This record gives sequence, C-alpha cells and structure tokens, in this order.
Amino acid sequence: MKTISLTIDGKEITAREGDSLLWAALDNGIYIPNLCAIRDKTEPSASCRLCFVEVEGYRQPVTACTEPVREGMVVNTKGPEALRLACTAFELLLATHPVDCAHCLANRNCELQNIAAHLGIKLKTDRFKKILRELPVDDSSPLFIYDPNKCVLCGRCVWVCQQQGTGFLGFAHRGFERVVTTFGDEPFGESECLECGECVNVCPTGAFVLK
Ligand code: FES
Repeated sequence: MKTISLTIDGKEITAREGDSLLWAALDNGIYIPNLCAIRDKTEPSASCRLCFVEVEGYRQPVTACTEPVREGMVVNTKGPEALRLACTAFELLLATHPVDCAHCLANRNCELQNIAAHLGIKLKTDRFKKILRELPVDDSSPLFIYDPNKCVLCGRCVWVCQQQGTGFLGFAHRGFERVVTTFGDEPFGESECLECGECVNVCPTGAFVLK
C-alpha cells in the first residue's frame, strides 16, 4: 500500500494511503480527542465532534476521523478554532453526563477524564445548564453493570456487538431520549447476551463496567 508523508503539529509522519488523519495521528503518538471513532468501520459516524483539527489551506477545521491523509498535508491539532469547536462539543456532552468520578467504577479509566485534561476543561464545568437523565441501571448481568446515564452514545458497544455476530445492542429513540439498549429492551440477565464482555472493553466511560 502507498505511503503518505505529512506533518502534524510540526512532526513529520508517514501513514498509509486511505488512513484518516485521526488514526495517522494516534498511530504516531499524537493525541486527538475522540469518542465515536472505530478503526475498522469504513464510514465513521463523526457524531462526537471532538476531533477537530486545522489543515493548512482549508478555510475551516475538519473532523480528523473523516479526513483522509494527503501527501504534504500540514495539520495543526491545537489551532484556536479547532479547539474552540472541540471544547464546546465536550462541554455540551458534560452537560448531560453525571460527573461523580469518586463513586464511579471507571474512575481513572475513563476517556472523559483524559479528554478534559487534554483540553484543559474541568469535568464539573457549568458553561451549559446541566440536564441529567434518570434512567434505570441494569445490573442483571452476572458479568457487568450497564448504566445508560453514563453512556455518551459513541456507538462502540453497538459496533462490537455486531462484530460478535449478535447485533444484540442498538440505538433506540432520538435526540435527548436516544439510548443504547438491548433488542426488545430486555434486561441483560434475561436476554440472549453472550456475556462476551466486549462492550465493557470498548466503553470509554463507566456506562459498561465489570462487576
Ligand atoms: S471521533 Fe471524530 S467526530 Fe467523533
């Protein structure tokens, strides 16, 4: 496969033709905030809006997960406009997320903590009005607990569940009501769930955690 040379944050790197800017950066040790990106998914959902970068010659920032690498590209992951967009998206996400890290089983193993540190934003930001959901927590599985209130709708669990051949998890409803749930909205312990634990492995927050 053809190799592409480009520059990100002043660092010259190589990537494979067809790679997105996001994976090229991550593979070369350059962090760009992301939640919804899934490497093997050919069409990124680009729903989290956290991976904005600035590209020389472009009039506006672009999402790194949807932008293919090009020869000679010069990319800035820390440009003011890109950071402004990413910070706004992240603070909007936090407005619907229950931030109680001290009592969360994912504490210190949560991508939201990493992103907050990277962007220099407090998890308890009050920029936007807090609107929390109060959905029931499902602890019926012998393996894990599912707390939909902590879900950021990244879609990673839905994707890996499909890859297991079950397609047992999916999205339901729209807008603020949108939620990841089981087929038929059954509790995990009473469902066809294979208990493979892949949803726990890919969850970036404390929505799926092992018991
Ligand atoms: S990782 Fe690019 S929009 Fe979510």
